[in-house]
Amino acid sequence: MRIGAETAIITGASSGIGAELARQLAAAGVRVGLTARREVELEAVARTIRDAGGVAVVATGDAADPTSTRAAFARLIDGLGPIDLLIANAGTGADSRAVRFSAEGFDHMVRINLTSVGYAIEAVLPSMLERGRGQIVGISSLASYRGLPGSAGYSATKAGLTALLEGMRAELFAKNISVTAVHPGFVRTPMTADGGHRQPFMMDADRAARIILRGVARGKRRVDFPWPMVGVLRLVQLMPGWLYDRIADRLVNP
Ligand SMILES: NC(=O)c1ccc[n+]([C@@H]2O[C@H](COP(=O)([O-])OP(=O)(O)OC[C@H]3O[C@@H](n4cnc5c(N)ncnc54)[C@H](OP(=O)(O)O)[C@@H]3O)[C@@H](O)[C@H]2O)c1
Repeated sequence: MRIGAETAIITGASSGIGAELARQLAAAGVRVGLTARREVELEAVARTIRDAGGVAVVATGDAADPTSTRAAFARLIDGLGPIDLLIANAGTGADSRAVRFSAEGFDHMVRINLTSVGYAIEAVLPSMLERGRGQIVGISSLASYRGLPGSAGYSATKAGLTALLEGMRAELFAKNISVTAVHPGFVRTPMTADGGHRQPFMMDADRAARIILRGVARGKRRVDFPWPMVGVLRLVQLMPGWLYDRIADRLVNP
């Protein structure tokens, strides 16, 4: 796989999809900057990269806190130089069932899944604009296709992220900066480990990372997978509201 980047920052690189993306990017010769909150896990990912001959720089940071996010990015840019590729992957999927809705919990999720992507983009975009090249990738979700019962807050953060990326893409296209919105279905990671609802067409994180990076290498606008789940969600998007209201909760939360 040929990735047209020398340096990349991956947020949420301490586990799951982010850790796999970091390993595969490093194996393709990209110098990677890793950030997340858990230092031990981040260092473990960095060690596997360095043991395999790659270059990895680590900076812990809390995506819910702009000051912490900015400081982590400053440290990573200091260690790597200008960033060619940003993969904004950090995310959380807290329960947001309407019957026990918490505005505070929702706000926390918005800060991690959406606002922090803004701080990440702000940290790398000026240098990309100056150099006239770069790539911004955001890990959204198929849950952004429609407000999902039980995950209304999560769906909202991911729909917001998709819209943010699409608007930026159309503007940055002319500046030679590509923007990719990734919409995975279920991926086997700590986030899906509780198995609280149906998880059809589940795939492993290394396969998901390969699909994502293939799309990144091609500068794709969107990477949506796996296709059977994309098909189901496209049909769900077309469903009239009266039908959706009657069956969606039972389908998603049996
Ligand atoms: N797994 C799926 O089925 C699936 C499907 C669609 C989309 N996604 C998206 O894929 C992305 C990666 O998720 P995953 O499945 O790989 O789950 P994961 O293994 O739980 O990874 C989530 C990553 O985000 C980081 N993170 C969470 N809260 C953070 C915070 N406050 N500050 C900094 N980093 C934080 C975590 O690191 P720390 O805990 O160390 O901070 C971890 O590295 C997420 O955006 C998720 O929404 C996942």
